[in-house]
Amino acid sequence: MRLTTEERSLLAGECGRAAGKAMQILVALGEIYGAEEMVSVSSVQIAGVSFHNLGEAGLEWLEEMARDGRVRTLTTLNPAGMDLENWRGQGVTEEFAERQLRLVRAYERMGIAPTCTCTPYLVGNLPAPGEHVAWAESSAVAFANSVLGARTNREGGPSALAAALTGRTPKYGLHLAEHRTPTFEAVIDVPLESTADWGALGCVVGRRSQGRVALLRGIPNADLAALKSFGAALVTFGGSPLYYLDGITRAPPDAPDIEASLVITPEDLAAARTSLDDGADHVDLVSLGCPHLSLGELAALADRLEGQQVATETWICTARPTAEAARQAGYAQRIERTGAKLVCDTCFAVAPLNRHGATVATDSAKGCFYGRGHNRLKMHLGSVEQCIAAALSGRWT
Ligand code: F3S
Repeated sequence: MRLTTEERSLLAGECGRAAGKAMQILVALGEIYGAEEMVSVSSVQIAGVSFHNLGEAGLEWLEEMARDGRVRTLTTLNPAGMDLENWRGQGVTEEFAERQLRLVRAYERMGIAPTCTCTPYLVGNLPAPGEHVAWAESSAVAFANSVLGARTNREGGPSALAAALTGRTPKYGLHLAEHRTPTFEAVIDVPLESTADWGALGCVVGRRSQGRVALLRGIPNADLAALKSFGAALVTFGGSPLYYLDGITRAPPDAPDIEASLVITPEDLAAARTSLDDGADHVDLVSLGCPHLSLGELAALADRLEGQQVATETWICTARPTAEAARQAGYAQRIERTGAKLVCDTCFAVAPLNRHGATVATDSAKGCFYGRGHNRLKMHLGSVEQCIAAALSGRWT
């Protein structure tokens, strides 16, 4: 790889040990993927924040990097394994909390903002079109590339941290215009009526497109909640973290070079929804906010829940700054009066729930995948209305 004088200096450890290690990671990555040079990044978003996933070895590595590692660009964090302020209310053990807090403090010492959200673009990490960034959270990477028009590969935890400590990332993959052309096309011949439908569509397109950049036609409109849900599922189920919705998101840079084309039908969507649902009739936990909810979604939930009481544990997951705005506007208090919990910094998929086999209802296809995996939960996928009905009754209908 061609390195600038500054990059060579970073690599030689002249700007600190952590920055030197970081540059070694980036050079190794660049060589694996055939990058010719580095590119400056205007922001970084780091995944690998939950102690549940990182463990002792990850914590030790981060504390070592935090000795002299300092960020060179705006950097935000993905959700942690617990609500950082109200972890006792979540039933988290002292032992886990002590390690999780140490982990977040190590990130903070490096100058990383402890936003702990998978929607960094809602709390100030908002790149402009064409900017190069290095983001790790899959749903956020899809949003950055496809909705915002920024350029990022899907980073791993170490490569994102390395980008933060150097302000650089190897220029390959989705940083290059030639890899941003759609090669898979689908006509969507099915109405999309809920975030669960959008997630099921992401599941179908992800499975069928097999990592190719997708161009989807036939969708009349999409709001923020729909785009969050779709992108999260698309990448989870094998799609590229760059897609185009004809007439809605940014247009492709070049004429499409389509290798495979198909029509997605109501039967495809129904099959995806069935495959994501484990079919029990009771519900132990209802969770909304995967990806984390926006202020507008919290306002709508406050209206939908008004004057009712939940019969089942209910998590409403959002970023802490969004929750604070919701509290100022009174939405948080209205939600909490129903017995639902406003949960910040985490979600049911990355927190250690220790309730293997419990049944969770959600409107998120991505949530179904990770809930089954990390916490071995049984899942129900449904619309926000179905999830609210389950919260109020404790049953799935
Ligand atoms: Fe976010 Fe957790 Fe879903 S990190 S995208 S709420 S699995």
